[in-house]
Amino acid sequence: MSQTILSAHDLCKSFAHNGGQVHVLNHIDLEIYEKDFTVVMGASGSGKSTLLYALSGMDKATSGQVLFDGKDLVKMKEKELAKLRSHDFGFIFQQMHLISNLTLFENVAVPGYLNNERSTADVKARADELLKQMGIFDVKTHRPSQVSGGEQQRCAIARAVIHLPKLLFADEPTGALNRKNTVEVLDLMTDLNRKGQSILMVTHDVRAALRASRLLYLEDGKVIGEMTLPPYEKEEEKSRETQVNAWLSSMKW
Ligand SMILES: Nc1ncnc2c1ncn2[C@@H]1O[C@H](COP(=O)(O)OP(=O)(O)O)[C@@H](O)[C@H]1O
Ligand SMILES: [Mg+2]
Repeated sequence: MSQTILSAHDLCKSFAHNGGQVHVLNHIDLEIYEKDFTVVMGASGSGKSTLLYALSGMDKATSGQVLFDGKDLVKMKEKELAKLRSHDFGFIFQQMHLISNLTLFENVAVPGYLNNERSTADVKARADELLKQMGIFDVKTHRPSQVSGGEQQRCAIARAVIHLPKLLFADEPTGALNRKNTVEVLDLMTDLNRKGQSILMVTHDVRAALRASRLLYLEDGKVIGEMTLPPYEKEEEKSRETQVNAWLSSMKW
């Protein structure tokens, strides 16, 4: 039985707009399971980012509950949320948001010190190990502007997991990448998941969705469909693509 790591109950998010309200998330009930690679698909504007922000405590839901580790994120104060985000969660975005005057190594290592739980030697060793795993060890003394977009995103992934987050959130992590870099980044995320990293990714990239062990479909602020898949294997990508495309068609993708 898979353990629930995060759940949402009757989750709503509305924005004030032109004197009225736009209801972006409409009474969502959702469980995210440990060690899954959960991917939320949906058209542009369907509320994927809004959902990710609400589930990860980057933004407050309007109503409902988001439960993690027995606590409701919707009720938390900003200070407590900030601690949760930096301690238990990791984040990857379309834009890498690396610090431009730090080297790749420093970009990865710095958040490792944030919670003051690990020794300098420990953090440095883990940063080097991650830089190797991400294939960017040789350019670790470069600054972000001196490496490719793909290398920047690989650095951002290393930074996102340096503190061993319980759940890694990703919002369109391949959105700014070419095809080759997209595959590399997805391979690295797949590899992290194989090693036990729980991932929640939102995307409208079918190539990214193929990596899911569980796929959800968001439309009009509701989860309208779901599919579970066996672990991703590169050799079987073609048949997986056919299966996922058939499911997406049934969602009127
Ligand atoms: N801060 C905001 N204020 C007003 N409307 C917003 C805000 N953020 C998102 N929206 C609206 O919510 C809807 C969903 O946006 P978003 O979650 O970014 O969708 P997706 O990530 O699926 O493309 C869009 O119609 C968007 O305009
Ligand atoms: Mg989005």
